[in-house]
Amino acid sequence: MIDIVIANFKMNQTPEETKNYLMTFLSRFDEKVDLTLCLPYTSLSTGEYLCRGKAVRLGSQNISEDEEGRTTGEISGRMLKASGVDFCLVGHSERRKKFKEDSKIVNKKIKSALKNGLGVILCVGESLAEHNTLKTYEVLREQIENALKGLYENELERIIIAYEPIWAIGTGETPMAKEITMAVKEIRKVIADDFSPAAADNIKVVYGGSIDSKNVKQFTSCKNLNGLLIGGACLDPNSLLKIISLL
Ligand code: 13P
Repeated sequence: MIDIVIANFKMNQTPEETKNYLMTFLSRFDEKVDLTLCLPYTSLSTGEYLCRGKAVRLGSQNISEDEEGRTTGEISGRMLKASGVDFCLVGHSERRKKFKEDSKIVNKKIKSALKNGLGVILCVGESLAEHNTLKTYEVLREQIENALKGLYENELERIIIAYEPIWAIGTGETPMAKEITMAVKEIRKVIADDFSPAAADNIKVVYGGSIDSKNVKQFTSCKNLNGLLIGGACLDPNSLLKIISLL
């Protein structure tokens, strides 16, 4: 059942634009899903102010793997927590590619997030070449096992795994519902192997990649999928409201 919606604003919106967005969005959001808005860092204080008292969580799009000090330009888990952030995205493919964030870095970021009381949305997914050569499950296993290395089973309660095939991000292409169902099953199998069958049942798994109001119904039929991670289609408040209304 889909009851989690995460919106990734990526590098869009000034604080003023976020204010206008939230004024429209919040006036009509009926709180029927568990919603996290991953705003740009510079819009977090605006988001924190306007979402106060509402059933909306704040998310960041990244976190430093370092705790404090000489890391120019980075934002730590402690800073995020103090800014009202509940969840941080970790391992998004755009960061893996552009900033060379490998599984070791992703693992450090997750540990720092948990240490600072934040939840984590761990993004995993295969490239088009890996998809075409049937390496999807292998890639998912490597990414998940290394990202979650050294974690205690009870810490998985604060982790959401987002299956985002790279070839589906911003392209208008999406996997078939059956393919997503199979990938979600495989993700849960990795968790069962590395932790326990109970942990596999309980972990939240969401799908992301080219979701919009026209295709959203195709994802609600995916078995054992808990939610959606939306990029481009969240940038218009009416479009995000429409998607939520169809769930
Ligand atoms: P799109 O919905 O724009 O494809 O982006 C998905 C995404 O990367 C969310 O993190």
